[in-house]
Amino acid sequence: MTEPVRILFVCLGNICRSPTVEGVFRAQAEKSGWGSLFEVDSAGILGSHAGEPPDRRAQRHARERGYDISSLRARQLGPHDFERFDYVLAMDATVLDDMRRLQKFSRRPRAELALFLDYHESLVGKDVPDPYYSDAPAFENVMDLAEEGSLALMRHLLKKQGVFGCGC
Ligand code: 4NP
Repeated sequence: MTEPVRILFVCLGNICRSPTVEGVFRAQAEKSGWGSLFEVDSAGILGSHAGEPPDRRAQRHARERGYDISSLRARQLGPHDFERFDYVLAMDATVLDDMRRLQKFSRRPRAELALFLDYHESLVGKDVPDPYYSDAPAFENVMDLAEEGSLALMRHLLKKQGVFGCGC
C-alpha cells in the first residue's frame, strides 16, 4: 500500500469553512472510488472553538447537499501539523499568512502551503469568504466553492499520483 496523501484544510475558527471542505472532499473522494488514497482533516487558527461541532448553519447547508459533517470537532492548528501533512491549505489569504508565521515554529516542516482554491484554474488566488457573521447566501457560497475547489484539488492530486481518467 502506498502512503495516503495527507491534506489539512485550515480556516479561522474550524467551525464553518474548513470542516465543510473536509466533509465535501472526503465524500467526493469516496464517491470517486479513490477515498483510500487520501487522509483529510481540518483545523483552525483560533483555539476558541476547539472541541465544538461545526456551526449549525454550516451543518444545515452541508446536509441539504447530502454531506453529514455533524461528527467533526474543531481543533487548533499546531506547528506539528506542518510535519504530519503533505498539504496544508488555507481558506483565505489572512489564514495563509498566519499559517506561514506558525510554520516557523515547526522543526521539520514538509507540507506544501497554499490557498485551497489555488488548484482550480479559474479560482486561483481567491478566498473562500468567511460566512460566520453573514447569512444563508454566504453559507451557500461556501458550499459552491467547497464542491468546485475539492473536485479541482482531487483531480490535481490524482493526476500527480499518476491516475488519469479518474471518472471524477
Ligand atoms: P470559519 O468561520 O473560520 O469558517 O470557521 C469563523 C468561525 C468563528 C469565528 C470566525 C470565523 N470567530 O471569530 O469566532
